[in-house]
Amino acid sequence: MSILRVRNWLDPVLRKKGEPVDNIDENLARLVEDMYETMLQARGAGLAANQIGEAKSLFVVDIGIETGKRDLVTVINPVITAREDEEIAEEGCLSIPEIFAEVRRARRVELKGVDLKGNDVRYEAEGFLARAFQHEMEHLAGTLFWDNLSSVKRNILKRKFKKLQKEADE
Ligand code: NI
Repeated sequence: MSILRVRNWLDPVLRKKGEPVDNIDENLARLVEDMYETMLQARGAGLAANQIGEAKSLFVVDIGIETGKRDLVTVINPVITAREDEEIAEEGCLSIPEIFAEVRRARRVELKGVDLKGNDVRYEAEGFLARAFQHEMEHLAGTLFWDNLSSVKRNILKRKFKKLQKEADE
């Protein structure tokens, strides 16, 4: 297993849509193992394939993160099939490190997809996990959480990001 480089929002791969996966093979299983390791090392709750440079329709999420019991799952070719209610909560992204903002999301979602064995999976999620699913789905559509905000707010966050990067480089 190896730690992959998490791309930041300046990398054009973050704007690519995830290509549907039609072949679940050893290479994909290896990629997923690396994504798990990368996500855990970065202390993330989820990671979409384009964040590590692969524009494929899949993401990994720790569905146990709220309980403290690690439970890593992979969802391939995911689709949100139902959304219910809304709530606003703070959110961050491994591709926009150190930047957090409040985002309005559905409170409950149903997500369908396929697991690494090729079996159909279905999750009913609410709260934090529902938010994580919606966040990862946006990655697979080539968008980022701050695209939900006004351009004024987004530009403030972009300036903050660049300032933090500059400080880190000094
Ligand atoms: Ni993200």
